[in-house]
Amino acid sequence: MVDGKQEGGAKDEGDREVGRSGTIVPLLANLLVVDDDESVRYMLAHLLGREGYSVTAVDGADGALAELNAHRFDVVLCDVRMPGMDGLDLLGRILGEHPDTTVIMMSAYGSVDQALAAIKAGAYDYISKPFKKDEVVFVLRKAEERELLRRENRRLRDWLGRDVGVGELVGESPVMQAVFKTIRKVAEYKTTALITGESGTGKELAARSIHSLSAERNGAFVAINCGAIPEHLLESELFGHRKGAFTHAVRDKNGLFVEADGGTLFLDEIGELPLGLQVKLLRVLQEGMVRRLGDTKTIKVDARIIAATARDLPAMVRQGTFRDDLYYRLAVLPIEMPPLRKHREDIPLLVEHFREKIGKQMGRTMPTVGAAAIKALVEYAWPGNVRELENTIHHAVVMAEGDVITPADFPEKLQTEKPSAVEYDLASAGLSIKKATRVIEARLIRQALEQTKGNRTQAAKLLEISHRALLYKMKEYGVDL
Ligand SMILES: Nc1ncnc2c1ncn2[C@@H]1O[C@H](COP(=O)(O)OP(=O)(O)OP(=O)(O)O)[C@@H](O)[C@H]1O
Ligand SMILES: [Mg+2]
Repeated sequence: MVDGKQEGGAKDEGDREVGRSGTIVPLLANLLVVDDDESVRYMLAHLLGREGYSVTAVDGADGALAELNAHRFDVVLCDVRMPGMDGLDLLGRILGEHPDTTVIMMSAYGSVDQALAAIKAGAYDYISKPFKKDEVVFVLRKAEERELLRRENRRLRDWLGRDVGVGELVGESPVMQAVFKTIRKVAEYKTTALITGESGTGKELAARSIHSLSAERNGAFVAINCGAIPEHLLESELFGHRKGAFTHAVRDKNGLFVEADGGTLFLDEIGELPLGLQVKLLRVLQEGMVRRLGDTKTIKVDARIIAATARDLPAMVRQGTFRDDLYYRLAVLPIEMPPLRKHREDIPLLVEHFREKIGKQMGRTMPTVGAAAIKALVEYAWPGNVRELENTIHHAVVMAEGDVITPADFPEKLQTEKPSAVEYDLASAGLSIKKATRVIEARLIRQALEQTKGNRTQAAKLLEISHRALLYKMKEYGVDL
């Protein structure tokens, strides 16, 4: 047996690399030569070794199978006629056990028919003996090209099958991927979820996604906006009532908890739920039972509760307008929907998604969105988040004259309002003067330090605060220059 193994450099997916000896390491570098003729083994090991291949050579099928089980080979160069198991049978074994391997047959004069049969059986190609070095290398290069195509196909398939959303929510950004992960977890276990986020960030869509992924997906998805119904109606809406429980209760009514039994109850704008009802809700969550107004007995309900809010519930808890026990009960698995300005990289994907969605609604082909338009969309601040983006695309589709949407098809504000970083932060501060002040202070300090090239004494003068106060605030806001 001749072993012509050559040193090769590390091989990278899809790329050739320069080996230690300075030769280019081929994409399919690990070769196994199977031939009973020692001179053929010797020649191939040396020829191909010099070309950067790593060659192992064996004299028959048994040795080949043993090598294949012990090491990974990209290509097997296999003689057609050998004593013992012949090349065709060996080919069958190789393709059965190592289907990714490329097999090239080598046929001597008179065995071309068998070589052709081998190709039918799945060999990649054949070369006739006696062969020249160039011929062998040429066939190997061809096999490499096919391998590159194969890998490209695999990459494309992976890309097409990539995970760009759950339910109708789309997003590729790390923040959205993290959201999807939590959504899948929540769906898997029957637990309560609290979805927070600014208006238009997809809170309701997230709740629907949880429902559609969960075991309760065949049950009802019942949504109620706690802020839209007066307190006295909200109570009977949620919990139901018996006939005669109050003046207008002319017949028995099941509440939404009962309607959502076996499904999901989505309590939107939970922050608007009056304190009295918060207590009742907590009791239902703890006991899994509801009692209709005016009823003496309780009904068992089995609904998943998902609450959502755009408000700062912890702040409400501190102010005493939201019960802490209910908050902790709901917030076991919090899902925070990020504002769109925090995942701008999703904008192109969202735009495509809405083009398709709107196209289906309108039943016509959609204009494409030009590069300048995409740029304008990516740069805008999106105070109304994804909903505003969706409306903007809708607007543009209606306005567009040709086949391509241009920035002129967007509302004025997209072209004029180019928000600065402070404005992004300010938007996330909501109406809190305290938060907004911090954002502005941090920004002014940064500016002052930039202007004075990091001279803190001068910066403090510009800011009209003491040197000590500056150092303190820099530490507090994490400003470093
Ligand atoms: N990630 C997303 N992918 C696709 N569509 C989205 C996404 N986020 C939001 N949308 C779309 O944006 C619109 C607003 O979403 P949704 O109603 O879920 O937001 P919300 O957070 O509940 O808003 P609000 O607080 O105002 O009620 C919907 O039309 C929804 O389909
Ligand atoms: Mg909503």
